[in-house]
Amino acid sequence: MKERPIVPESEILRQREFMKLVRAMDRRPQSYHIVSMGCQMNERDSESIAGMLEEMGMVRARAREDADLILYNTCCVRENAENKALGNVIWLKELKKDKPDLMICVGGCMTQEKGMAAMMKKNYPFIDLVYGTHNLYRLPEYVWRVLTEKRPVVEVMDIDGEVVEGLPEARASKFMAFVNIMYGCDNFCTYCIVPHVRGRERSRTPEAILEECVRLQDQGVREIMLLGQNVNSYRGGGAEFADLLYRVDRLGIPRIRFMTSHPKDLSDELIHAFGELRHLMPQLHLPVQAGNDEVLKRMNRRYTRAHYLDLVKRLRSVCPDIGLTSDIIVGFPGETLEQFEDTMSLVREVRFDAAYTFIYSPRKGTRAAEFPDDTPYAVKSERIQRLIELQQAIALEALEAQVGKTEQVLVEAVSTRDAASVGGKTPRGHMVNFPGDISLIGQFVDVEITSAGRNTLRGRRIEQ
Ligand code: 5AD
Ligand code: SF4
Repeated sequence: MKERPIVPESEILRQREFMKLVRAMDRRPQSYHIVSMGCQMNERDSESIAGMLEEMGMVRARAREDADLILYNTCCVRENAENKALGNVIWLKELKKDKPDLMICVGGCMTQEKGMAAMMKKNYPFIDLVYGTHNLYRLPEYVWRVLTEKRPVVEVMDIDGEVVEGLPEARASKFMAFVNIMYGCDNFCTYCIVPHVRGRERSRTPEAILEECVRLQDQGVREIMLLGQNVNSYRGGGAEFADLLYRVDRLGIPRIRFMTSHPKDLSDELIHAFGELRHLMPQLHLPVQAGNDEVLKRMNRRYTRAHYLDLVKRLRSVCPDIGLTSDIIVGFPGETLEQFEDTMSLVREVRFDAAYTFIYSPRKGTRAAEFPDDTPYAVKSERIQRLIELQQAIALEALEAQVGKTEQVLVEAVSTRDAASVGGKTPRGHMVNFPGDISLIGQFVDVEITSAGRNTLRGRRIEQ
């Protein structure tokens, strides 16, 4: 991976000047609402967006309808993500009729797609700002231009991507944090649009990452999630991902997780890390996508079923309790029933704690979109239904196997179903609810697991 240019500090300072200019304006949005779609990378971007908007003097609105500025941070990984974003934006047109000063901003992966910005400019003239993935840091300048020029701003940059440091941030949680370590992807799996919208792989330096981790630790953060589209190809200042992980572990933050890993790049050092590092949680998201070699080849995944199964074996030999999760695509162009059965048998063999399953969605500009696909949608639907049922049964067994254990839970929130309970995750990533109150949020609590539900565990606090 090439070292990519860092956006110069002078440019970030220039953007800070725009933040001040907007803040000083009489007629500007006073409140904002962000709708974050898609993956954790987008969630992290939304924290930077929130930070910039707050520097511009805006406060987070309680509800979308109350906000003076509404920003959609979009995803385009599957067609339904895109339809959802466009559907939502059309609804905003109605809202704007009653609230003419409402500022509507749309950015992220969908707007970065080829031709999308032009289409939006033509068909959605009520959108005030359209920007892409590479120029997020220029948001202050664009907001200022919308307010002063009083006409829509549409700016999407067609570049390989840069590394941005030093943006303000308004974090969603006080004790759990996302930390980007790299951006972009060079793998070009044939179904995937990510390399087309997020650009080439580029890594932050270990120093910048460690500095951010230390700052978060000082602020009381207890769990960090290192993020990248393909963390295993992290190369920052000569360091590989496993080196970085050892350095982060030494900081002493109680919990470290990371995502996402590509099976072709999962190194021996990283497997060993699961046996050695005190703070690395026994959990790994390792998307397999399919269980058949022919399909994997056409997906350009560059590993085989046997290789994947071998990784699982080695991971479990160093860390027997590791919780594995995965992404699986059903109905890839040309997938036969037999090939699908290979995915089913792999799922039976690996026994994932959870698997996110998707029906293949053709994305314009990707290679697979040109592949012949003669499997009817109804057949794909039936296949995914079978896969979901199988995975649910396996997940339930994994949950039931936890009953009777005592686990340390980092409490995240009051339970949505029962106001007298709180919930949080075990090291392996299982969600546990147990009787408790709001004062426990952000704390580590020992919990005895008493029963398993469909997706979560129930437990009882063990008093020290
Ligand atoms: N169709 C369906 N699923 C997809 N994914 C990525 N691209 C597509 C597509 N075109 C899934 C993969 C990936 C996850 C984030 O989304 O499983 O791991
Ligand atoms: Fe995340 Fe990919 Fe969706 Fe972009 S397209 S938000 S990188 S999942």
